[in-house]
Amino acid sequence: MLARRWHDIVNGGSKGSVMGHWFDGIIGAVVLLSTLATVLSTEPRAADWSLTFVIAERACAAVFALEYCLRAWVAPMGVTPGLRRPARDRLAYIVSPLGLIDLLSLVPLVATPLGEALGGDVVLMLRCAPLLKLLRYFSAFDTLAHVVRNERKPLLAAGTLMLILLVLLSTGGYLLEREAQPGRFGSVVQALWWGIVTLSTVGYGDVAPVTAAGRVLGGVAVVMGMGMFALPAGILATGFAEEMRRRNFVVTWSIVARVPFFEHLPALRIAEIVELLESRTAARGETLIIKNDPADSMYFLIEGEVEVILPARKIVLHTGDFFGELALISNQPRSATVVAKGFCQLLRLRVDHFHRLMAAHPDLAAEMRAVAERRAGAGIMVAAVPRAAGGDAAGDGPW
Ligand code: CMP
Repeated sequence: MLARRWHDIVNGGSKGSVMGHWFDGIIGAVVLLSTLATVLSTEPRAADWSLTFVIAERACAAVFALEYCLRAWVAPMGVTPGLRRPARDRLAYIVSPLGLIDLLSLVPLVATPLGEALGGDVVLMLRCAPLLKLLRYFSAFDTLAHVVRNERKPLLAAGTLMLILLVLLSTGGYLLEREAQPGRFGSVVQALWWGIVTLSTVGYGDVAPVTAAGRVLGGVAVVMGMGMFALPAGILATGFAEEMRRRNFVVTWSIVARVPFFEHLPALRIAEIVELLESRTAARGETLIIKNDPADSMYFLIEGEVEVILPARKIVLHTGDFFGELALISNQPRSATVVAKGFCQLLRLRVDHFHRLMAAHPDLAAEMRAVAERRAGAGIMVAAVPRAAGGDAAGDGPW
């Protein structure tokens, strides 16, 4: 399907697709070119080149327009089959933050009429919008947004504490300095500026207490400010490091040993299995398996929950469960769509490694087969699941 193929290209760079990398590379280069043209167009010494800059910016915006149409067209492909509604899914892309940035990147195409309506300064700011498109390519920005969301409570607490301190300090500054410096500390509102530059330890020096008591207060404020203003930075740094560790986790012996399916194996066997598994994470709402797709791997859930979408109901699988085994066992397409309910850490077992593992461990093969038969339900897939001949499973096919 053409739309599906293009969807994989425009969104595939981060998933390792070669065409996706090329697509991202071209758009990234056009973004840089467009920004360069915008920035240089403000340089008086390059006035002779102004027409070239305008043409370059418009050519770049034409590429962005193509990209925008492409992204809007393939947007429904990012939604779980069965839940797709093309008009709604396209609108969801258009009003999403990245969709709005993509739309803003088209400003150079309408710069002249927009400049007349909004003024040249506003349009110049808008012409820098393509640079924001780069946000899409760095998962670190996504991670940062995630960290801020996760740490919102401690951040809110630190912010509230800072606000209390700021108001108390500015009131103190006003009370102590208002007579000596009525022009600068004439009201609490005026004193707020001194409070903020003192607490943040920036200390521009434009406003400073002159009375002895005011200076003591200022000294205390600087010391408190160092601790208080460092708090949110510390919360964010710790949260960021923790989130990066969760996202880039390494498959270790202890992680595999905690998976219920492997936990009764001897230590040495677990060490061998570590080599066969790959780490993978999934964001909330990410589709991990699409119904009727050919199967290339199965997953063990080591953190989080996924939802198996069956025709009549949805089944939630939890930490410690596995999924994606049915298609590998029966050598048939995927029986259901599986979507991450929240952030998930997964161990991925590729099809070739799956058959190797099952051939080497008939007890595991029997256990997995029992679960698969139960899941497949009365006679739907069971007949299609070939039985292992006395546990002597073949290494290169379904057992
Ligand atoms: P597979 O068919 O490879 O891909 C979809 C997966 O959903 C399937 O493997 C099972 O792992 C899982 N699945 C399908 N039906 C059920 C069910 N009834 N209960 C739990 N998991 C299921």
